[in-house]
Amino acid sequence: MKSIVDTSSLHEGISRVLAVFQKLRELRGADAILDRILLEAREICNAEAGSILLVKEDRLVFSIVHNDFLFSAHGINKHLYLDASVPIDDFSIAGYTAKHSETLRLDDVYALPPSYSFKFNPALDKQSGYRTKSVLSLPLINFQGRVCAVLQLINSLDQDDKAVSFPEEAVACVSLLANHASACIENGMTTNELILRTIRMSELRDPAETGPHVQRVGAYSAEIYHRMAQESGLDASEIKRRKDLIRMTAMLHDVGKVGISDVILKKPGKLTSEEYEVMKRHTLYGAHLFRNAVSEMDVMAREIALNHHQRFDGKGYPGRVSNIEDVDAMTVGTMAGEDIPLQARIVALADVFDALISKRAYKEPWTIGMALDVIRKESGQQFDPEVVSAFLSILDVIEAIRAKYQEAV
Ligand code: C2E
Ligand code: SIN
Ligand code: SIN
Ligand code: FE
Ligand code: FE
Repeated sequence: MKSIVDTSSLHEGISRVLAVFQKLRELRGADAILDRILLEAREICNAEAGSILLVKEDRLVFSIVHNDFLFSAHGINKHLYLDASVPIDDFSIAGYTAKHSETLRLDDVYALPPSYSFKFNPALDKQSGYRTKSVLSLPLINFQGRVCAVLQLINSLDQDDKAVSFPEEAVACVSLLANHASACIENGMTTNELILRTIRMSELRDPAETGPHVQRVGAYSAEIYHRMAQESGLDASEIKRRKDLIRMTAMLHDVGKVGISDVILKKPGKLTSEEYEVMKRHTLYGAHLFRNAVSEMDVMAREIALNHHQRFDGKGYPGRVSNIEDVDAMTVGTMAGEDIPLQARIVALADVFDALISKRAYKEPWTIGMALDVIRKESGQQFDPEVVSAFLSILDVIEAIRAKYQEAV
């Protein structure tokens, strides 16, 4: 079956990294998490060996070591290196990575340019008979911006099992993984924080999907839901729980824009109709990222990403989608009214309201009055009338949210 995100290995990589977060959430215990991170990073690069070194005071301590060549063929104990440590200074590869918070991508550690301050230490190779060639050494940064560990991958293998330079796309994906992984290592990482990081990743791609925009859409959606839920008879703690869930997942509504090329995403003018057709696929890409949804949060994120451009009258996109795995069987009919999940009907309004009153590369901001006119006019057509009336009844709250999350200038 063809994957929807098949245009570039980078996007495959992003979806893969999201799947790894999923698995990491299920793991408990620092060692299991480190082991998993190292394994995933190695698989992305087809690296024969690797290690994670944790910062302990002014040294880096080997915490996890993998080596397929040594540990499988020679049966050497995987704890061989576990007591080893190196100082954080300019003179070793790991030390340099940690000291300067810099990624090093080295093609042959036995032929480093003499101008480099660091040298490869051949002692372990000598002891074990292993031959290190290419190395990728990345800093893992914690919330305070400090390096908390170094991830080292050794010998990226090509199809003939020959050690080659680390491929560039793989380096990009491992960097992405490393950035999120560091937070897992620091433990206490909540799902919410993980999602916020995912959002920041998508912001890198779309200048219009700024932090404040995403925060506003999340907050408007949560408050509209709250207003509607008050009449539903749900108990207060359940309303609170769902409200938090909607707020987080609404923030991910456009995460699928990571699958849209910069040429279209950042186009200063109006899109052509072909470009718009491509742009519409961000809904499918977003849903695809959550295709293996297991938690209630993931399911909600998928429903919102997929359905936030449906219209109440059925004229929106992508319509009804039969199988999110299959790019050729996308739309099998329209989707209208209450067939559209409530959260998506709510986000549809919150997103358009915010897009209208914001500046975009392709348009100037509208006044609130103009935006409200459109929303009233579209009640029952583009938007669910019940969502519209809940929204109009909390305009004071909407205004407060808008004032709180303003664009940085
Ligand atoms: P976005 O900028 O976040 O806009 C979200 C939605 O707000 C749009 O969904 C549309 O329903 C509404 N909206 C935004 N600006 C206007 C406007 O000036 N008039 C009206 N009537 N509605 C507006 P839509 O149209 O499906 O677009 C989805 C995304 O596609 C947009 O997200 C934006 O990233 C991109 N896009 C759409 N049209 C253009 C365009 O002409 N040029 C560029 N560069 N991007 C576009
Ligand atoms: C996922 O794990 O499926 C996506 C990322 C997240 O939920 O934090
Ligand atoms: C990456 O590091 O994989 C790229 C993330 C992005 O698309 O901005
Ligand atoms: Fe969208
Ligand atoms: Fe948006």
